[in-house]
Amino acid sequence: MRVLVIGSGAREHALLLALSRDPQVTGLIVAPGNAGTARLAEQYDVDVTSADQVVGLARKVEADLVVIGPEVPLVLGVADALRAAGIVCFGPGKDAARIEGSKAFAKEVMAAAGVRTAASEIVDNPAHLDAALERFGPPAGDPAWVVKDDSLAAGKGVVVTADRDAARAHAAGLLESGHPVLLESFLDGPEVSLFCVLDGATVVPLLPAQDFKRVGDGDAGPNTGGMGAYAPLPWLPENVYREIVSRVVEPVAAELVRRGSPFNGLLYAGLAITSNGPAVVEFNCRFGDPETQAVLALLESPLGQLLHAAGSGKLADFEQLRWRDGAAVTVVLAAENYPGRPRVGDVIVGSEADGVLHAGTARRDDGAIVSSGGRVLSVVGTGADLAEARARAYEILGSIRLPGSHFRTDIGRRAAEGEISLR
Ligand code: GLY
Repeated sequence: MRVLVIGSGAREHALLLALSRDPQVTGLIVAPGNAGTARLAEQYDVDVTSADQVVGLARKVEADLVVIGPEVPLVLGVADALRAAGIVCFGPGKDAARIEGSKAFAKEVMAAAGVRTAASEIVDNPAHLDAALERFGPPAGDPAWVVKDDSLAAGKGVVVTADRDAARAHAAGLLESGHPVLLESFLDGPEVSLFCVLDGATVVPLLPAQDFKRVGDGDAGPNTGGMGAYAPLPWLPENVYREIVSRVVEPVAAELVRRGSPFNGLLYAGLAITSNGPAVVEFNCRFGDPETQAVLALLESPLGQLLHAAGSGKLADFEQLRWRDGAAVTVVLAAENYPGRPRVGDVIVGSEADGVLHAGTARRDDGAIVSSGGRVLSVVGTGADLAEARARAYEILGSIRLPGSHFRTDIGRRAAEGEISLR
């Protein structure tokens, strides 16, 4: 089977690495890729938002399966175009991808499916902003304002703050640039990312993971696309994991089928485990980054066959997933100034070691690997438990040099030390 992966991040590098372990995968192609993925796959340049270009490339490389990594092509309908061309694709069509593309749509689906989520309100008129902030902030009993961009924002459109002026400034800025704002009540409790492979109503959950969205240790500083993750979650009881599948993911999958837009691909449920049980923070329509790097490091089942089964409507017949024992931790190495405008073009030393996945990297004409984006590398450590996996990830990170770069030192620490519990 020849598999074409669309995207250029560490998530796509992790997908390629896991696909390369599948004995039925005979060829790997990536577009556009990065300096790290070039070592694993044939690499082509493509505009990932152009359905014509992606379909053309899939035909040219004779792909048996196309896996779309990022949300933007999915929301734009690139998976629909591939399917219409008779090409097996892992990734939802435009209608189902609205679960990520429009937070208002996601809320509507959850309401219809009876799934718990934060109370919310869309504000699209600046004149209504102040009254809405009063309804959602700490005076109403919540510990913080949650202000989101009601469109794709790569995780960076969210501000969670107890400072009303900061909440107002973020919301007003979004409205000024023409983006509707979603105000939400704050969901208290540890967060879980649960990825599920879906083929309509059939749901196959992967290992649960947790990511770290803030830039600094102890969850300090602004939100990012994700600074690290670990899997599985030693503090998440099996019954709560099952409850997420049966009371959140399966009802949403069934509701999308009922609406005539079945979800075929990876449904990412982001949840908070509150004192009243799991509640949805957000859905994404694709593998999460950086959780994928940790989750796939533990997958033993053949990924190409799994995604092909989902893409061709045969997921219900797929074997029960097999996982390696132990844990995986991924830590993101970010460029200077990220999540602001990152410094790029610096030479990276040590990026070819085992366990290093590339995101914002490029190969210069002289052969040097240089930084080309905000999140530059994802380093993955595995081990018999979280403490060992953490130690391994930070050991690898210690051998990498990138001027001005930064990373969090506390990825998975609280879980490894038994400090996370449910109320
Ligand atoms: N881990 C956050 C995301 O993928 O959106």
